[in-house]
Amino acid sequence: MYLKEEFQQGLRTKVFGRALLVFETIESTNMYAKTLASKGAEEGTVVIADHQTSGRGRFGRTWLAEPGSSLLFSVIIRPTFNADKVGLLPFFAAASIALAVETTTGMQCECKWPNDILFHDKKNCGILLESTFQHNKLDYAIIGIGLNVNQTNFSGDLAGTATSLRKECGREFDRRNVFRQIMSSLESLYTDVSRGIFDTVLTEWKARAALIGKRIKLTQTANIIEGVAIALADDGGLIVETGSVQRVFHAGDVTIVK
Ligand code: BTN
Repeated sequence: MYLKEEFQQGLRTKVFGRALLVFETIESTNMYAKTLASKGAEEGTVVIADHQTSGRGRFGRTWLAEPGSSLLFSVIIRPTFNADKVGLLPFFAAASIALAVETTTGMQCECKWPNDILFHDKKNCGILLESTFQHNKLDYAIIGIGLNVNQTNFSGDLAGTATSLRKECGREFDRRNVFRQIMSSLESLYTDVSRGIFDTVLTEWKARAALIGKRIKLTQTANIIEGVAIALADDGGLIVETGSVQRVFHAGDVTIVK
């Protein structure tokens, strides 16, 4: 049973997670948060569920997670910086989660461009960032987070590519503690981010960057690019060297070429 009081007990934040909507089952926390945000819900509002019937992933994929094992939640933010900084928000989310997961587990995470978190090359967290603009200004963004906490098995395609905190650390975690740690970490990094300052976020992300220097395959809808990931561009793009040419990509699905 998912109880609001249990998530909020011991919460150390002033804004993030103070308005909290808790569901046993929901279609998608991102969808629900979007509806709330469009009706004016305040910054820091969180929608969390134990189970989603239509969990959404990047590129229109489905996000599957069995009940009782994951953290599935969405956070509403309303930063007032220029729209050209929006592409950096996934790095804010990823750095916050990596820091929180490391504090909780004592293990080092890797950040995979643009917004996955890995343990030993396997994904333990996916982030879906959805932004809504009004008159060319960011109105609100929804940070959707799916973190694998206590799964012991992954089947099908996920068997070789996904992992959980429990699988990597060999012990069970209290999802409420992990949640509270993520709220603290988001709130702490957001002090700068809300003013359009991403230096700390990018330093933390780069310190954990999983792809830089590696040969990668970047898949876009109609395109597959193979090359070496060189660096993160200032706007959050990935600089890839193909032959002797360097190009910057802002979207895509990346795999490391072994
Ligand atoms: C990815 O494709 O890697 C991103 C997955 C994001 C999944 C989370 S689970 C909570 C939130 N609600 C959704 O419908 N999706 C995000």
